[in-house]
Amino acid sequence: MFTRVVFNQKGGVGKSSITVNLAAISAQQNFKTLVIDLDPQANSSQYLLGEQATYSADKHALEPNIENFFDDVLGNNQQKGLIGNAIGSILKSRSKGLESYVHHTAFPQLDVIPASPTLGALEHALESKHKIYKLRDSLQQLSSQYDRIYIDTPPAFNFFTLSALIAADRVLIPFDCDVFSKRALQTLIENVIETQDDHNNGLEIEGIVVNQFQAQAKLPREVVQQLKDEGLPVLNSMLPPSVLMKESHQKNLPLVHLSPEHKLTQAYQTLFAEIEPH
Ligand SMILES: Nc1ncnc2c1ncn2[C@@H]1O[C@H](COP(=O)(O)OP(=O)(O)O)[C@@H](O)[C@H]1O
Ligand SMILES: [Mg+2]
Repeated sequence: MFTRVVFNQKGGVGKSSITVNLAAISAQQNFKTLVIDLDPQANSSQYLLGEQATYSADKHALEPNIENFFDDVLGNNQQKGLIGNAIGSILKSRSKGLESYVHHTAFPQLDVIPASPTLGALEHALESKHKIYKLRDSLQQLSSQYDRIYIDTPPAFNFFTLSALIAADRVLIPFDCDVFSKRALQTLIENVIETQDDHNNGLEIEGIVVNQFQAQAKLPREVVQQLKDEGLPVLNSMLPPSVLMKESHQKNLPLVHLSPEHKLTQAYQTLFAEIEPH
């Protein structure tokens, strides 16, 4: 089993699309695969589960979800008041593993722990109670149940992304070829290296995956060359832009199921093969 986190502090670079599509390929190749959605925007939860994972002002988030897990970590769900039961309920909630929050998707071998819009409200309590290793510890207990775990992250370097970087074996960094996000990439790599040094020596930087790469245009090619010149680990496989991605999200069908022969799907297959450990 290994855990791959898809991370970039910038929004809209392709984190959720890449998480879901690599996870779908992984499941199709018969690896038992779990996606954990740490982004309150819930894009990957909705991509995989459709309508049931959407929420709005008058519709609650799908439960159980990742917020319920962190609530249990904080002991928030214990029945308070009944003194005689208190210890029993503490023990009960402590023994609840991450598998209790899993939903099956319509695709064989592919499960998801969905996001929740109000996850951020727990951040302060989790930080002040030093719960930064809880996700890692709970993931280790899943090692006999899953071959691959993919974590989608919010566009921020916060408690949840740090938890994920601590829990993961590998980090994949999507980049959208925007000149303005090039600088942010440097900071991001520094954050990841600091996390390696402080918490997770085993974390491997798999590389930067260039998304929506326009091979014909001069500027994106120059930007990519600059990254390579600066010694940044740019992966060979690049993902082209295609309207198929929007359709794939709308139909809740990962690319391998929507259009296996399409050039974007093929690019994803190549990327998957490039980063899969040999
Ligand atoms: N290769 C691609 N071609 C076209 N559109 C894409 C591609 N990858 C992502 N997108 C679109 O870009 C937007 C942002 O992608 P998303 O995966 O949600 O990024 P993030 O999770 O980093 O915010 C979405 O509308 C998605 O459909
Ligand atoms: Mg996202």
